[in-house]
Amino acid sequence: MKAFYEENNLPHPHLPACPVNRQLKGQKAIVTGANSGIGEAVAIALAKAGADVCINYVTRPEVADEVAQKASECGAKVITAQADVSREDEVKAMFEKTVKEFGTVDIVVPNAGVQIDGPFSEMTVEMWDKLMGINLRGQFLCCREAVNIFKKRGVVPNVSCAAGKIICMSSVHDVIPWAGHVNYASSKGGISMMMKSIAQEVAPHRIRVNAIAPGAIRTPINHEAWSTREAYDALMKLVPYKRIGEPEDIGRAAVWLASDDSDYVTGTTLYVDGGMTLYPGFETGG
Ligand code: NAI
Ligand code: BGC
Repeated sequence: MKAFYEENNLPHPHLPACPVNRQLKGQKAIVTGANSGIGEAVAIALAKAGADVCINYVTRPEVADEVAQKASECGAKVITAQADVSREDEVKAMFEKTVKEFGTVDIVVPNAGVQIDGPFSEMTVEMWDKLMGINLRGQFLCCREAVNIFKKRGVVPNVSCAAGKIICMSSVHDVIPWAGHVNYASSKGGISMMMKSIAQEVAPHRIRVNAIAPGAIRTPINHEAWSTREAYDALMKLVPYKRIGEPEDIGRAAVWLASDDSDYVTGTTLYVDGGMTLYPGFETGG
């Protein structure tokens, strides 16, 4: 009689705990929205750690090429793939291209995201749907493609202890409500529960699913929040660590979550926020 794990094509339950850190050598990654800000830094950090990387972009191919050039200088094999993450056909084509070029996929970072801000009473259905299409459906589509590839291939022990790793780019606004940004905060709250539910479902396949929740990171998405002295000073009132985050802060966290150093971490959100979620108003009050 076959054991449960054999019948279901699952890893042997007594596969040992991860012995050593092999970083990301030989692994293949896809990062969405990788021609700007956090996505760019994550792609380069993964490449520095030894992964081959697919740089996804939707507009500005010339910038994607520049990022690809930087990543390949780390010794990585790099491809670029144009895809609007809100479109199922384009996401599927991006994964197919990556598998064709690299042979497989081990790490997926659904990072692409937008803000379409406005007072709630004036928020149109178009503002809601467009944002949800990119921020939430886009991550769902990438996670589903990733899980199907990871499940089919399983664990390759000399590559990683896990059959695959997904790192969803969330935000501190998965727990901090944000007036004027209701669609955005709702999408990030959705990512939190989507990530945990997928993690629970696929853990027996040794697939790890986690999220990073950045605080305020210096990128184009929040240019207004840091580009003048007044804005920066106001922002620092929300950051106990008293500096803005840099995209590289997120890149390092992504490498850790992708590596076997974090084997046994799944269904978790890692807050990389200089303490923004620590109720900074209580530094002096309360
Ligand atoms: P960014 O504006 O620099 O980058 C966003 C990227 O997403 C760009 O490459 C853009 O082209 C891409 N993108 C937009 N729509 C797309 C689509 N339909 N298909 C494919 N790509 C698309 O902003 P940033 O800051 O780098 O944002 C990256 C992620 O980090 C987003 O999910 C954002 O919500 C999240 N985040 C950012 C924080 C920050 O303070 N910068 C804080 C917390 C979360
Ligand atoms: C937003 C940024 C904001 C940060 C901290 C992110 O999710 O995209 O605009 O600066 O959260 O509030």
